[in-house]
Amino acid sequence: MKSVTGRPGRPLKCRVVAGIDKLRAPKGTRDILAPDSARQRHLVDRFAAIVESAGYGQVISPMFEDVAVFSRVGESTDIVTKEMFAFTDRDDPPQHLALRPELTASIARAFVQHRPTAPWAVWYEGPQFRYERPQAGRYRQFMQVGVEVLGSADPLADVDTIVLAQEFFDDIGLTDTSLMVNSMGDEQCRPAYLDAVRGHFTEHAAALSEQSRETLAKNPLRVFDSKRPPDQPIIDTAPSLVDHLCADCLAHFDDVRSALDRLEVDYVLSPRLVRGLDYYRRTTFEFIAPGLDTAQNAIGGGGRYDGLVEQFGGPPTPGVGFALGVDRILLACDAADVFAAPDDSADVFIVDVVGGVEASVLSQQLRRAGLVVTRGFDQRSMKAQMKLADRSGARVAIIIGEQELSDGAVTVRHLRADSDQHAVPYPDIVSHLQELFR
Ligand code: HAM
Repeated sequence: MKSVTGRPGRPLKCRVVAGIDKLRAPKGTRDILAPDSARQRHLVDRFAAIVESAGYGQVISPMFEDVAVFSRVGESTDIVTKEMFAFTDRDDPPQHLALRPELTASIARAFVQHRPTAPWAVWYEGPQFRYERPQAGRYRQFMQVGVEVLGSADPLADVDTIVLAQEFFDDIGLTDTSLMVNSMGDEQCRPAYLDAVRGHFTEHAAALSEQSRETLAKNPLRVFDSKRPPDQPIIDTAPSLVDHLCADCLAHFDDVRSALDRLEVDYVLSPRLVRGLDYYRRTTFEFIAPGLDTAQNAIGGGGRYDGLVEQFGGPPTPGVGFALGVDRILLACDAADVFAAPDDSADVFIVDVVGGVEASVLSQQLRRAGLVVTRGFDQRSMKAQMKLADRSGARVAIIIGEQELSDGAVTVRHLRADSDQHAVPYPDIVSHLQELFR
């Protein structure tokens, strides 16, 4: 551990890398390069098209918020207790801020701040930050897309969101996902259920893992999240939430289920699905991809969170929504061999051996005509530029040399099928290529 200077007068203790050339993307983060970056963007575009056709409007909110926004997610959730990237700013007095670990809390905060007409149906995309132990499919910065509907208690609002997620998975070809559905009850019926669960886990505490015993003391429901083998038989025999639902929650859940049946959305009733956030009431759901490791196979999840908006000082406002993990969805697409990265080959590569502005003018004209055009720089040798042209995947190379300049023409060389080449008068080149690429 070395000390480097932080704010004036305040030394900042942190690890310092040996040499500047040893700097890497921070632990749990990744650089996403082309064509994977284009693949991610296309995925978000497909999501946007589906939810916007259902009338959801995009909200772009800050990537950091007052830490109090996220505390509302629940004091017994890992996200809040262990995984927040929290910091103070340079204001006087300093503000306590955190990078967002999820977006539902920000949307609830925005709802109270802007008071839009309810029901307010919104969608979002963007990076989230959680201080997790990184592994494949679990990152410290990851990308989510999601929707929220604030101001409707209708079970069909729950169904509307579920169906949109399902449509999206079908649209990208991820057709073998499983939908797990549960009801968490509400403040009427959950206390009695919590007592029953606490009683059950306390009775078997000696056989539980040490971590689950600690969890039990804070929130017995969180024990259901455990994937540790000794906990499984005790979890399997725990009382079921659906057996403890009050009449209203049961009716709500029945409506959700019969609408899903009517819409032919397959689901698995999952009484142990409690989700990792404290704000849920009634419906909860999760999408599982079979091709991923079980610890990271949830590619999305959501549910109803009636009561969250009140915690931000807003009027009683029910809410429901979901978020999907883009990084995991793409891993699931890899496993299922669907939604491949787009072809990022160029159409045309301009070989400029004279180093004049002619190549720039031609690039501009061809790009304006709708072609994907890349080019050589630095007057590198013909051989070096032809190598780059091959690597770019371009179908044709256009060569601009001394001879071509004096003839008022360019040489068009076909790179894929045969290496046929011919001169094309400069004024005809745009229409010539447009014809070729039609
Ligand atoms: P969540 O279950 O915490 O829910 O996250 C949703 C999805 O984000 C997960 O199913 C997973 O695919 C992805 N995800 C979570 N953590 C990571 C990570 N460390 N690395 C990679 N992917 C990850 C929420 O965030 C709620 N806000 C969902 C919601 C919206 N509920 C109601 N409305």
